[in-house]
Amino acid sequence: MVRSKVTVVGAGNVGATAAQRIFDKGYADVVLVDIVDGLPQGKALDMLESGPVLGSDAKIIGTNSYEETAGSDVVVITSGIARKPGMSRDDLLLTNMKIITSVVEEVVKQSPNTVLLPVTNPLDAMAQRTHQVSGFPKNRVVGMAGILDTARFRSFLAEELSVSVEVIDAWVLGGHGDTMVPVTGNTTVGGQPIAQLISDERLTSIVERTQNGGAEIVNLLKTGSAYYAPSAAIVQMVESIIFDKKQILPCTALLEGEYNISGLFVGVPVKLGSRGVEEVIEFALTEKEAAALKRSADAVEELVEVMKKANP
Ligand code: APR
Repeated sequence: MVRSKVTVVGAGNVGATAAQRIFDKGYADVVLVDIVDGLPQGKALDMLESGPVLGSDAKIIGTNSYEETAGSDVVVITSGIARKPGMSRDDLLLTNMKIITSVVEEVVKQSPNTVLLPVTNPLDAMAQRTHQVSGFPKNRVVGMAGILDTARFRSFLAEELSVSVEVIDAWVLGGHGDTMVPVTGNTTVGGQPIAQLISDERLTSIVERTQNGGAEIVNLLKTGSAYYAPSAAIVQMVESIIFDKKQILPCTALLEGEYNISGLFVGVPVKLGSRGVEEVIEFALTEKEAAALKRSADAVEELVEVMKKANP
């Protein structure tokens, strides 16, 4: 079997857990990069030594440099600081912008044809920065947020209705922040519209819990933010790309007129294949949903403006 090559930058909670999930499946060799000496090397070696038990023949190495990442099919970027209680994702903006800039510069030298998959928060702004610094065509930069937000929404709905998570088809679009837009009009449970199964009041409360889903975890953990569900979402995107599955998934992509939004990275349904974003899918939104999506894009734009002022 010819294995794909996946680099994960940032060997912290999100990066290491994503690397582990990919290594465990055995279909890709993994390079784990971090600035902390010994951290990626130690975690990678520990994962490698799990191979005989799990039946994974994949290779995994940890490093503090980028030569080993050359020729990656996908580069997942999780380097940066995470939130603590009381912080919003936006509070991370300028610190993570500097980290993302230096990381992307190094990554693209080694893998000029890769698909970049930013995860670091605030996600939409970091995707915008990744695109700018890389100089890549828009299809090869695609951020992870919508699958996570949608998975939270689906988990809460499944619990509420006492059904399998798998029968819930839902879409959370927009920026990865308080303004995210659970598209309730498109949410179905085994083919039935959600509005027929749940009261408006309960649905509103589940939507709110989804919008605060990240903060709920931060407040419980106290020392960091979520990583199990985020890393699972990363893996779904990596698989759609390296196996050219062309799944339709909510991801952060550059819009140029779709949904009447231009020049901004926002969460929308995309067809994800070996070329990255192969198509932005345009749902027919209600007026209310379209307005909410626009508001969400405006919130992303504010962050992009702050970044521009700090470092054009
Ligand atoms: N190059 C490489 N790695 C870096 C750099 C850099 N310039 N700067 C920081 N890192 C590494 C840190 O050393 C750390 O190991 O990034 C890692 C981040 O890990 P955690 O602090 O555990 O954070 P994590 O929970 O993984 O979240 C990472 O993803 O979901 C988002 O909001 C989250 O922005 C945060 C990011």
